[in-house]
Amino acid sequence: TYVIAEPCVDVLDKACIEECPVDCIYEGGRMLYIHPDECVDCGACEPVCPVEAIYYEDDVPEEWAAYTKANADFFDELGSPGGAAKVGKVNKDVEPVTSLPPQGE
Ligand code: F3S
Ligand code: F3S
Repeated sequence: TYVIAEPCVDVLDKACIEECPVDCIYEGGRMLYIHPDECVDCGACEPVCPVEAIYYEDDVPEEWAAYTKANADFFDELGSPGGAAKVGKVNKDVEPVTSLPPQGE
């Protein structure tokens, strides 16, 4: 799977959503999260993010390692909806996002 990391927090550019062929990038409160079971590793989202927030799971920078788990934890209650468009914005986040002070100010 691919993972969205800290640079997305409070930015939510959403360019990535347009690229994903399986609509597996879901919107949370302060960032977007890639569904680890729905992502087919096409990689199309990675180059379009203007803040370089997206990484293949093996390439997530050490400082953002917790985001691999965060992208999975976000779906604990949602399960596997099979498409983000019908789910829409979900007004919640998970750690470590929840504890981060406002970014980019
Ligand atoms: Fe976030 Fe980048 Fe997508 S900022 S919403 S991962 S394009
Ligand atoms: Fe979609 Fe990116 Fe995975 S475009 S299939 S989330 S690698």
